[in-house]
Amino acid sequence: MIKKTVIVSSESEDIGSKLDFAGSLIRRGGLVVFPTETVYGLGADATDRSAVEKIFKAKGRPQDNPLIVHICDVSQLRDLTDEVSEKASVLIEAFWPGPLTILFKKKDNLPEETTGGLDTVAVRMPNHPLALDFIKKAQRPIAAPSANTSGRPSPTRMEHAQEDLDGKVDMIIDGGPTGLGLESTVLDLSGDRPLILRPGGITREMLLDYLEDVDYDRSIEDINEKPRSPGQKYRHYSPKADMQVYSGEPELVIEAIAGRIKEGKQEGKRVGLLTVDENIDRYECDFKISMGSSKNLEQVARKLFDALRGFDLLEVDLVVAEGLSEEGLGKAIMNRMAKAAGGKVYYL
Ligand code: TXA
Ligand code: MG
Repeated sequence: MIKKTVIVSSESEDIGSKLDFAGSLIRRGGLVVFPTETVYGLGADATDRSAVEKIFKAKGRPQDNPLIVHICDVSQLRDLTDEVSEKASVLIEAFWPGPLTILFKKKDNLPEETTGGLDTVAVRMPNHPLALDFIKKAQRPIAAPSANTSGRPSPTRMEHAQEDLDGKVDMIIDGGPTGLGLESTVLDLSGDRPLILRPGGITREMLLDYLEDVDYDRSIEDINEKPRSPGQKYRHYSPKADMQVYSGEPELVIEAIAGRIKEGKQEGKRVGLLTVDENIDRYECDFKISMGSSKNLEQVARKLFDALRGFDLLEVDLVVAEGLSEEGLGKAIMNRMAKAAGGKVYYL
């Protein structure tokens, strides 16, 4: 159904009353796009089955892919789960509000649409004043996936969400570009050892300051393994073009990419290059986008999804991309690049 989407700027003078209105839309079963510190979210009342169904419809999202529930106060956890472990409490204290999503055993009253039929619920408290204010005014826990059409790169600017969801949601709250640019880390504490199901803003290294051990789910190390997090199994974050990533020894990577660009052109393709500031002048390619400096992974994280969407605007047929270090935030960056490339990452 096409509806009029109201766009609200965080800079407008009466932002307080506009957030009140956003909250009332949620209580009436509506959809509201809101900024978080990671990416924009597409929010609905997590306790309202039919509102949550609308999220799946608006995004074209597979029904078995569960949603993250966003809260603004730790006391809201009580409505979602009966079990908060010692480990979870330590991490909540350390990282909330922030880009860490934790899985809990879910309470029965939560609709199965929210959790994709699983017996766990994923919860996080976003570190963004507008998000926190909005959730508070909604007086509900907010189920919210990233505010993109399923499969496309996550939205790091209001315009990205508008491009995908205009006419499908009731309101979009514009908070400008998001700070982190990559989604939250999804962490499962239910097993013997804590498992990262999706690498994100809170790195393994940061978690190790508070936990004795943390592993990555095997599907993160090996794209052929079946992931434990349903969302990780889909091709994702993708530009419309075919994408290939080359990573490893810098000179070999540059040589391989230059060769692939040439080959692509000979095949009559419009070839796009995704690279870093340090190397952008070393290639001959008609359509180049830099993710920023390879020495500044925070900057790369912020720019990545916008760059991937950029190739859609350039209407290229093939994107050849330079891989980055997998240290720290690099793990999440490379995870998103690998997904965007449908696993086509070549290590040299
Ligand atoms: O930063 C973020 O996490 C953003 C902002 C909006 O908060 N949200 C986000 O949501 O990235 P989404 O739906 O695009 O990704 C959620 C991921 C999916 O991979 C999903 O499968 C996983 O979290 N997930 C959610 N609930 C889960 C559960 N109970 N068990 C395992 N994985 C779960
Ligand atoms: Mg997503």
